Amino acid sequence: MNTALPIVTLDGPAGVGKTTLARRVAENLGLSYLDTGAMFRCLALKLGRGAETLAEDELRARCSQWTFALAGHGQCTTLLCNNMPVRSEVRTEEVGMLAARIATVPCVRDILCAMQRAIAAQCPLVAEGRDMGTVVFPTARFKFFLDATPEVRALRRLQDLENQGQNVDLATLTDKIRQRDALDRNRPIAPLRPAKDALVVDTSNLDIEGVLGTILHHISVLGGPDQLR
Ligand code: DC
Repeated sequence: MNTALPIVTLDGPAGVGKTTLARRVAENLGLSYLDTGAMFRCLALKLGRGAETLAEDELRARCSQWTFALAGHGQCTTLLCNNMPVRSEVRTEEVGMLAARIATVPCVRDILCAMQRAIAAQCPLVAEGRDMGTVVFPTARFKFFLDATPEVRALRRLQDLENQGQNVDLATLTDKIRQRDALDRNRPIAPLRPAKDALVVDTSNLDIEGVLGTILHHISVLGGPDQLR
């Protein structure tokens, strides 16, 4: 009997293109996708600066005011927080850094992990983040870890932010990506690292179509999308 969860996990560092890929993989396989970074970002924005220093009881009480859900599927999947769509205001570098800080707090990770599992219990999905394959869904059927140098990721992030009308300079962005890598990789709980059974894809010299092709090929070699029903 196949006891693997019908889930595709995509983990990797900031700016590696996980969200775009999760959306494309979900579209190809007819699934929803869960952007867990957006959950951390949204919570970080709601709780505000310095929330990581609050006492655990206080933090738990404040986190309990917010619940997450998914609506729709494929490219049209929408993450809802208290029934309202999570908007692009969470996508700035500042909110990314706030999210990386709050993500070091064990009780915040526990709360979001429980919500991520509850969402996945409703439907098969593509889940992207830092610890999807290692902690949240260790028995997921298909696991991928995407990587690229900080310089390549900073350049991609620059292009994304420029497309959204935000003005940022490359050196600052590279520096911020390195700082966020340090927080994400060195935290004691759920640090960023590939699961032992994940396929590691170095995307430095691949475009989105190249990475998408690699992921879909690997899924078909391991039994195909039928494993996700
Ligand atoms: O993927 P992202 O850049 O939107 O994530 C923002 C921050 O949230 C990231 O720096 C660390 C945290 N995060 C996490 O700790 N675990 C996840 N599964 C997803 C994000």
